[in-house]
Amino acid sequence: CLVSGTAGAQGAYPNHPISLVVPFAAGGPTDVVARSLGASMSKTLGQSIIIENRTGAGGTLASQHVARAAPDGYTFLIHHNGMATAPALYRKLSFNPLTDFAYVGQVADVPMTLLGRKDLPADGMKNFIQYAKENGNKINLANAGLGAVSQLCGMLLQEALGVQFTTVPYAGTAPAMTALLGGQVDVLCDQTTQTIPQIKAERVKLYGVTTLDRIKTLPDAPTLQENGLKGFEVKVWHGVYAPKGTPPEAVAKFNEALRAALKDPAFTQKMAELGAEIVPESKQTPQGLQTWLQSEVDKWGGIIRKAGVYAD
Ligand code: MLT
Repeated sequence: CLVSGTAGAQGAYPNHPISLVVPFAAGGPTDVVARSLGASMSKTLGQSIIIENRTGAGGTLASQHVARAAPDGYTFLIHHNGMATAPALYRKLSFNPLTDFAYVGQVADVPMTLLGRKDLPADGMKNFIQYAKENGNKINLANAGLGAVSQLCGMLLQEALGVQFTTVPYAGTAPAMTALLGGQVDVLCDQTTQTIPQIKAERVKLYGVTTLDRIKTLPDAPTLQENGLKGFEVKVWHGVYAPKGTPPEAVAKFNEALRAALKDPAFTQKMAELGAEIVPESKQTPQGLQTWLQSEVDKWGGIIRKAGVYAD
């Protein structure tokens, strides 16, 4: 049971391990952030945070699971932009991101990188654009399903180039990266939290970054907008959620541990190495997440509806 403060050791929250649900495969970008964050937060909470990878339907199965979980302070969700794109992508969504959760706070912003398999016959973004236009649906584009940021990035890329690739969905970009490294797919747009080690080891071709400006961790990488895709921008952000009805004391305690992690060098240094930027304090709060989520639902909803991409 959840009793705050004075109830003594047995009733004090948290008194057993907490589950943090990750909507994508283990070893991928969301999982990397979640495990590192969980390790830091458990130091403040004095309880383990167990990472639970629940994959499927571009992250929406995990969100649905948490929306319906017992609101007891022992189940949380970490999710990215997919929480905001899902309502436009899924006509029959079984949960409402704006009303079915308690909000904890945001974590970090992550750039994405456009990658090709190592032996793709196109060097540099200019050649890639030409190659993409000439080969169209002969090119296999990996993603992590409708609702993944890899899907969002790929959708915007195809739209910007006026091409249609063949999409190959995976349970996360960890298996998608394995397929790219093995040459089973040609192209992947993925977050630096997974791609930087592969880029540095030269196991993939890097075409560019999806931010408007170049990034510190990959200073030589051009932006896509430098190479003709004017205004092209996908920035990934992460939020932490609980089922609606979770006791405010538990949300406050989890938020306190979150904010401590965002100052913990064990977490912040790892994020910096992987190109991620800790969000400002104003976004580390429940209100900061809720306001941001609403603005992202509005922003991406319009873009996705215009692109006409959705699941029935
Ligand atoms: C992952 O963790 O696998 C990714 O965040 C999936 C994606 O959104 O592309």
